[in-house]
Amino acid sequence: MHDTLLLFGATGDLAQRYLFPSLLRLQGDGLLPEDFRVRALALSPHDTEKFRGILRERFASLPHYSPTAEQVEQFLARVDYRSVDMRTPASVAEAVGDLVDRRCVSYLSIPPGLYISTCKAPAWLGGALKAPNRLMLEKPIGADLDSAREINATIGGLIDEDRIFRIDHYLGKAAVQNLLALRFGNTLLEAVWNRTYIDSVNILVSETEGVDGRNSYYARSGALRDMVQSHILQLLCLVAMEPPASLAADRIRDEKVKVLRALRPFSASEAKRHSVRGRYIAGTIDGDAVQAYTPPDDSDVETFVGVTAHIDNWRWAGVPFHLVTGKRMAERSTVVTVTLKPVSHWLFERPDGAHHAAPNRLTFRLQPQEDIELGLMSSLGRPGMGHAGTAAAGTGTVLGNRPEPPHRLRTPVPGRAARQPRPVRAQRRGRGRSAWIDSVVDGWKRGDAPLQYYPAGTWGPREAAAYLPAQFDAVGHPVGRGG
Ligand code: BG6
Repeated sequence: MHDTLLLFGATGDLAQRYLFPSLLRLQGDGLLPEDFRVRALALSPHDTEKFRGILRERFASLPHYSPTAEQVEQFLARVDYRSVDMRTPASVAEAVGDLVDRRCVSYLSIPPGLYISTCKAPAWLGGALKAPNRLMLEKPIGADLDSAREINATIGGLIDEDRIFRIDHYLGKAAVQNLLALRFGNTLLEAVWNRTYIDSVNILVSETEGVDGRNSYYARSGALRDMVQSHILQLLCLVAMEPPASLAADRIRDEKVKVLRALRPFSASEAKRHSVRGRYIAGTIDGDAVQAYTPPDDSDVETFVGVTAHIDNWRWAGVPFHLVTGKRMAERSTVVTVTLKPVSHWLFERPDGAHHAAPNRLTFRLQPQEDIELGLMSSLGRPGMGHAGTAAAGTGTVLGNRPEPPHRLRTPVPGRAARQPRPVRAQRRGRGRSAWIDSVVDGWKRGDAPLQYYPAGTWGPREAAAYLPAQFDAVGHPVGRGG
C-alpha cells in the first residue's frame, strides 16, 4: 500500500479546494493507511506550521463536511510542508530526497510547464518514480498538441505507462459515472440515441466562481483549455461514444478516442462562425458585487466559451453538440440536455397557439443537484388547456434525483484510477482532443474572433444565446425547466 503523497502545487486551487478536503474525508472514513503522510510542496516560503494553519482555516468552512477539531489535528499531524522551486531539479531533489524510500504517489497539481523539470529531478530518477511508485498528472497536460506530446514522451521515458495516472476530476463524480449507466442500461434511451431521433445536444458547465487567485495559470489556459478540452469533452464522449464491450478502463477509453478522432476540426472561418468567446465584467452574484476579470499582461484570454462541435460518424452526422462553459455565471450548473426531433406530424393545439410540435427533451442535471428530467407530451389534465384538454408538450417529468454527492474518486492514494483520459500520444496526428482544441484556437487567431463581454451573474454574452439549452436565456436566467 502506498503511504506517502508528494503533493506538488499544495497551495493551489485544486489542492486547497478538493485534494486536502478529500484526504481529510478519507481519514474520517478510516481509508488512509496508519502511517500515511503528505509532503506538501509549493513555491511559497511557508514552513509546516504556517501551512497547517492555512489548512486549518480551510477545513473550518468546508461545504459538505464538518470534521471535529480532533480529526483535523490528527490529519494535520500527517502533513508537512517544503518550499520548492520546481523549475530546478536540485530544489525538487532536496525537497523530497528524504522520502524516496517510502512508497510514494507523486501528484502534480501544477502548471503543465513545470511537469518535465519536476519529474526530471535526480531524486526522482533514483527513487520517487521507481516501481511501485505512481505519478498523477492533473489536466491540462500541455498547452497544445505539441507540448502534450512532449510531456507524454518525456515522462513516458521516466516511468512505466501503467503507473502514470492522468486525472480529470469530472470522471470521479458519481453523477458523471451515472451517465454511462443511464445510457447503456436503458433500452428506452439506446433505441433513440442517434441522428434519426436526436436533434441536438447541449452541454453546459456554468460556475459562479471567478478566476480569483489563479491569474497566472488562467491567463495561459482560458476557459477553452481549462474546461472544454478536459471536462466538457469527457462529458461529450460519454454522451456520444459507442457501447464499450465491457467496463474495463481500456475498452471505455477506446470508444472515447473514436469519438475524439471523429470531431470535425474547424477552419478559421468556421471557428469564428461557430463559437463565441467572452469575458466577465463587474456584476452581481447572489446579491454580492463582484469585480471584472482583468488578466495580467493584457492577455486576450476568455472566461466563457460557446462552441458547436460536430462528430463525423454514422451515429451523429448532422447533430450539433453545443458546448458552453463560463465563470461568474448566474448559477453553478452542469447540465447535459438532449433535444429530440419533434414528431413528424403534430395533431394537437398548443396553449400558445402554435400548431407545431414541441420536442421531447431529456435533461441530465449533474450539479449542483443530480437529477434527470424528461419533457413529455401528455394530455393529462393541465389547467388552461386548448383543444381537447391536451397538455403542452414538455411537461417536466423528474425521473429521479439526489443531492450532489461528495467527490468520491478524489482518492489519490490506493487503487487504479480506471477512468483516466488516454495519453495524447495515442491520438492519430491531426485528429483527437488536443488537435480539435488547437483548431478552435487557431481559428480564433486567424479569424480574429473578438471577446464579447458579459456582466458577472448572467448567462454569458448575448451572442451566446444559440449555444445554451432552450430553457436558458443568454443574459438573464433559466426560463423554466423541461419546457
Ligand atoms: C477545474 C478547473 O478543473 O474544474 C476550474 O481548473 C474549475 O477552473 C473546476 O473551477 C470546476 O470543477 P467543479 O468540480 O467545481 O465543477
